Amino acid sequence: MTIIQDTDDATEYVLLDLYQPPTAHRAEFTTALDNVINKVATLIPQFGLRNPRISRPDTLLYEFCTADEWVASFWCGQLWLAHSITGQEQFKNSATMRNPYFKNILEHPEWHDHDLGFLFSLSSVAQYKLTGDPTARATSIRAAELLAARWRQPLPFVMCWNPMKRDEPEFAQRKVGTLNIDSVQGMALLLWAAEETGQSSFADIAHMHLDSCRTQLLRDDFSSYHCREFDTKTGLPLEGYTHQGYSDESCWSRGHSWMIHGFAQSYLTTRDQIYRETSAKMADYIADKLPEDGVPYWDYNLPDGYKPYRDTSAAAVTAAGLYALAQGFGPGTESEKYTALADKMLLGLVKHYDITANPGSQGLIDQGAAFVEAGRANNMLPYGDYYYMEALMRSVGHTEFFW
Ligand code: GLY
Repeated sequence: MTIIQDTDDATEYVLLDLYQPPTAHRAEFTTALDNVINKVATLIPQFGLRNPRISRPDTLLYEFCTADEWVASFWCGQLWLAHSITGQEQFKNSATMRNPYFKNILEHPEWHDHDLGFLFSLSSVAQYKLTGDPTARATSIRAAELLAARWRQPLPFVMCWNPMKRDEPEFAQRKVGTLNIDSVQGMALLLWAAEETGQSSFADIAHMHLDSCRTQLLRDDFSSYHCREFDTKTGLPLEGYTHQGYSDESCWSRGHSWMIHGFAQSYLTTRDQIYRETSAKMADYIADKLPEDGVPYWDYNLPDGYKPYRDTSAAAVTAAGLYALAQGFGPGTESEKYTALADKMLLGLVKHYDITANPGSQGLIDQGAAFVEAGRANNMLPYGDYYYMEALMRSVGHTEFFW
């Protein structure tokens, strides 16, 4: 079944609004995207109303989310992407069947954290962008309000993690005062809400948060910390550290990818040059640190032989971000350079980690690393799948996403 539409057909294919250099691998990526869409279609009846969380150990089968998990929207996002390309009702129906799940999250403030961005960009914002549904619009704006309301002066960011009743007081305070790199992606929801409502406070909060990420999570060489702690009384920065990476001073691959993608996307939305420059410098940092096949290990500073797991999710997020970055540069050597780097990473995924042809697999790529030191490596991950699909779409010229 060939369902990818011809780029000449403007009614079926989103035309580029910015220059994007052509990929050197159009045929391979078109075929891979075709396979991905077919795979997503076959998984609809297998998943039903369930949302994949992470693969069960040593299998290509997924465990599924409970009622409040940050990864719950990535399957929904794949369904909306498939609908955006094919127009097929099956994808839309399966995505909208999940609306009660996301409505329930909105109604539980105790579950809310910075992941409201992931959760609602890929569900209600996607639905609104593709269908114009007014309820989806209202849900998205409410999610943005709840995310913006997490700003706690004098801290210069939207609170990422929540203190819990079970936490020791000192730990609870540390959580309130910690900025993490994963939160970058959530700012797209605020930037979208600012454009949609004309209410500039959404954008003001997003810019404050992005500036804090840029100034506080990056080192001089443009490697990244996962987190930085702040004094909750003064709002002043304290130590940086790397919770999900190899060590405090190392560079966790997926964390780095969130920021490459998030800053490239923020540039496309706002045209603020500092976001493009930041994403580009972070991309330059990794360019000579990739293995031969283009797919990074879980940390860019891993000592030789130490838990040598790949993180295909980091590759997928980075590749999607690099295509966005390339799009953000006008014609010239910069965009060609970032397209070539994206091509290298995406081709590695297509050739060595794509499992769509395996009829027993419930995911698109294997060998993701959720959190190696917590024992979660060599998995299928729903965010790896989602960003793999987004990267393939960007590689062949799609420019409309839900960020
Ligand atoms: N918590 C977000 C991540 O693992 O990337």
